[in-house]
Amino acid sequence: MKTQVAIIGGGPSGLLLARLLQTRGIESVVLERKTKAYVLGRIRAGVLEQGLVSLMEQAGCADRLHAEGIIHDGTLISYGDEMFRINFTEHAGKPVMVYGQTEVTRDLYSALEQSSAPIVFNAEDVVIQNADTDKPHVTYVVDGKANHIDCEFVAGCDGFHGVSRQTIPIEVRREYEKVYPFGWLGILSETPPVNHELIYANSPRGFALCSMRNENLSRYYIQCSLNDKPENWSDDAFWHELKRRIPADQANKLVTGPSIEKTIAPLRSFVTEPMRWGRLFLCGDAAHIVPPTGAKGLNTAASDVHYLYNGLRDYYENQSSEGIDTYSAKALSRVWKAERFSWWFSSLMHSYPDQSKFDQKMQIAELEFLRSNKAAQQAMAENYVGLPY
Ligand code: FAD
Ligand code: PHB
Repeated sequence: MKTQVAIIGGGPSGLLLARLLQTRGIESVVLERKTKAYVLGRIRAGVLEQGLVSLMEQAGCADRLHAEGIIHDGTLISYGDEMFRINFTEHAGKPVMVYGQTEVTRDLYSALEQSSAPIVFNAEDVVIQNADTDKPHVTYVVDGKANHIDCEFVAGCDGFHGVSRQTIPIEVRREYEKVYPFGWLGILSETPPVNHELIYANSPRGFALCSMRNENLSRYYIQCSLNDKPENWSDDAFWHELKRRIPADQANKLVTGPSIEKTIAPLRSFVTEPMRWGRLFLCGDAAHIVPPTGAKGLNTAASDVHYLYNGLRDYYENQSSEGIDTYSAKALSRVWKAERFSWWFSSLMHSYPDQSKFDQKMQIAELEFLRSNKAAQQAMAENYVGLPY
């Protein structure tokens, strides 16, 4: 097989890039290790910045998102029984949209499939070869049969555990990491959300988040120990703990019900530099991870796709290498700011095992400052709705 861009990974980054390239007549092949059902079964991000919404529009995949997505003009932040609101539209001039990553992925798959774009599922043993030359190629195995794709570029969109990052020689890579001493236990339940806006809760018992997918589908998280297992938490135990971490007036109106999904995610900050090696470009979680507190994971993957798509477009349409040559620097400049925001918001909202009484007072003082200071609210709002591309 021969293509222009071989895309490793059929998650949101890989699919969005494939679809955007397709709108300009640039050929790609997506290689995904899992099945489509597996990819769609992963419940992950829920908040989309306008930058991602606009990329979905450019990709011609935004009809359902506009019909079913919920516009959020602000968010609630609580500490103990205190709660205040940050108004995104007032302070940053735009809202965010609540629409699940699963739905974004589903919309991209259906557009790609309708246009018969090549997506290979169950692609095992993917190996990227000669990425530091002008003639890269990718080999992989499906149903025990070896395959080979000659290509001009490789987009490494295969997430944190993929092969793309590992293809870059270790002596070329600079990696920066912070592992947090806790995880998030998340559940999905077919119940109405406790509030029409998200609630980020700091409590002495640990962080909690009340989120949603639609008016009858709620997503809740509580901070948990890294040694915890979802099966250790009955639904009753989860609801009981959640209620103790959010303001009493919210807890009193919380509608509980059976969970339809329950998983634990560890929290990590990670960046690899550079995001390009020869003709291989890393995109999304393959290059960086943020703790989910700022809802930046999927949105930062989208800004990478924006820079790479425009770089490749310039290369094919205007014979200019400038966009791909500056890809890594441009993407990383925005990535580090999203890393900073996610780290700051995580540090503000969670209980740390070694946290002193002084540290707790600092969190409360910072929350009270945020509650009362317009400049602080503006900084929070601008970061939450997404810094410009
Ligand atoms: P991925 O979604 O990881 O997609 C990569 C794809 O590549 C996968 O489909 C994988 O199967 C495939 N792949 C991997 N290795 C190979 C290989 N060798 N060959 C071929 N294919 C391969 N962000 C938020 O904003 N809010 C959240 O609540 C949130 N929750 C999360 C929970 C978890 C458990 C995780 C892991 C992430 C979460 N994120 C969240 C982050 C967000 O979901 C990611 O930033 C987003 O999925 C990144 O998209 P991606 O396409 O770059 O990577
Ligand atoms: C979610 O709805 O899953 C969600 C929302 C906001 C976050 C993290 C996760 O910061």
